[in-house]
Amino acid sequence: MCGIIGYTGDGRRQAAPILLRGLERLEYRGYDSAGLAIQTDRGLVTRKLAGRVGGLRSSVERLPLPGACGIAHTRWATHGAPTTCNAHPHVDCDERFALVHNGIIENADVLRAALERAGHTFRTETDTETLVHLIEDSPGDTLEVRVISALEHVVGTYGIAVMSADEPGKIVVARQGSPVLLGIGDDEYFVASDASAILEHTRSVVHLDDGDIAVLTTDGYHVIDRESHVQLREVNDVTWDLEAIELNGYAHFMQKEIAEQPETVRSTLRGRLMFEEGLARLNGLNLSPEDCAAIQHITIVGCGTSWHAGLVGRHIIEALAQIPVSVEYASEYRYRRQVTRPGTLVVAISQSGETADTLEAMRAARAAGSRVVGLVNVVGSTIAREADGGIYLHAGPEIGVASTKAFTSQIVALALLGLYLSSHHGLPLAERQELARRLSQLPGLVARTLELEPQVRVLAEHFAQAPNALYLGRGVNFPVALEGALKLKEISYIHAEGYPAAEMKHGPIALIDANMPVVFVAPADEVYSKVVSNMQEVRARGGRIIAITPEGNGDLGTLADHQLRIPATAPLLSSILSVIPLQLLAYHVAVLRGCDVDRPRNLAKSVTVE
Ligand code: AGP
Repeated sequence: MCGIIGYTGDGRRQAAPILLRGLERLEYRGYDSAGLAIQTDRGLVTRKLAGRVGGLRSSVERLPLPGACGIAHTRWATHGAPTTCNAHPHVDCDERFALVHNGIIENADVLRAALERAGHTFRTETDTETLVHLIEDSPGDTLEVRVISALEHVVGTYGIAVMSADEPGKIVVARQGSPVLLGIGDDEYFVASDASAILEHTRSVVHLDDGDIAVLTTDGYHVIDRESHVQLREVNDVTWDLEAIELNGYAHFMQKEIAEQPETVRSTLRGRLMFEEGLARLNGLNLSPEDCAAIQHITIVGCGTSWHAGLVGRHIIEALAQIPVSVEYASEYRYRRQVTRPGTLVVAISQSGETADTLEAMRAARAAGSRVVGLVNVVGSTIAREADGGIYLHAGPEIGVASTKAFTSQIVALALLGLYLSSHHGLPLAERQELARRLSQLPGLVARTLELEPQVRVLAEHFAQAPNALYLGRGVNFPVALEGALKLKEISYIHAEGYPAAEMKHGPIALIDANMPVVFVAPADEVYSKVVSNMQEVRARGGRIIAITPEGNGDLGTLADHQLRIPATAPLLSSILSVIPLQLLAYHVAVLRGCDVDRPRNLAKSVTVE
């Protein structure tokens, strides 16, 4: 999952500064190496290196690359180690073509062997380099014709931008499976993996579909298909502000996004609660009352944190709408032989809306005859555009690789979905009105929960050097235990596991000793007393206990070494509050360990490859 950007303009502005700034904004997509290519008076000049975009910027500032047209890339390595040599852009044998790519070429080995037999010399270990040699090898008097004929041989996913030394000012773009959009400026045109890279230049974007080829020149742009037929694509306006992708005084985007949650939860709820009727207004779902009544089963698909939100959603939807819900890892679901029951609704949860496994799981479900809806944060993303309907989170851009505000908004959106379906499946009005009232209180309760930060910072000092950690919870808070463990793993590199508290006795209890911090998520709900028994089992083996428990709960006394008290709310909604201290704990532990919180090693924000 790399980030690509391209720029061509009428010469009023230099391409390099625009590309470098854009790469810095795309760095959350991949950050192990970077590069750019500029059309200069001396032809195509490429500059690339291993490491962060900052290093590339210094290199270009030392040795500028003048020119008004260029392409650039920040990498998350899939094929070939993250070295300067393997960094993008890649060029052909005579350096007449330069190309950047996001995706995976699955038949690269076969293509490479054929191209080497045909006399091409490869310089790198990457799958991507085959594309530029293919273009070099392809017939055609224009770059777009060459690109189209080259792509006929390619199997895989790609978002690419290509330049030719023979056609100054032209950039050809192609999309198959990886997100790519165009930016339309005043006599200047952009291509990027997402809008954050170009927002400071234009709000007008064109989302490309799979199979599209776009041609950008200094005179304008057009989109064609593989038969060179012109395709009309809508120009959309990006609604969020640049400020949303600035740190605004915070040390890290993760810290900022955790702190934003009172507002982002409010934003997910805005205009969607109907208190009198005890209902949710979710027009984007495109589900008529008849459709809702006909739903017999719900399958939720997602990955990582989104999968955890799905697990919470199961509890909420089953309780509110009495509809059986199954939650699937998208990567497993997509390859399993689909046994679809009539009346199945598939819900694809994805912050980015671009996660390849979730997208393909959604496509597989649709192919098997199910209706699919998306629960997505990024407006205009592929899952959002391909689903039959959906719910936007409106949580604003999430830049920190470790997902935080999207998780709480995903759970709020799932509660709204449960409320939306509940009236068609018999939940009494009073219960629906009560839940609507409780939902509306959440922004304030989230704000109060964030006041725990000073306590959490102190707590983090106790655990920053722990080699392992165990997170335990029950019911709607078992997924919160999973999420807490994931956050710690992702950004502090401490090995952590989340488990259903009762499962601990069936194995993990063997890990318990005085060095093992055990985090219990114990809100006041129907399984609270069971969680307390599990705490006693850990205490009996000398484990160190952190308990996330509601205000005013006096009876943990000496059982827990540390207690973080969260405000009380409806048990079904408690996970939205109980996860926040866990987000903060992971954040402060990672800061204390000197980790790169927003760019954790080996990770990327949007996993657009399998
Ligand atoms: C979460 O912190 C991770 N970044 C990761 O697990 C993420 O949730 C997963 O890749 C799914 O992403 P999505 O919601 O954008 O589809």
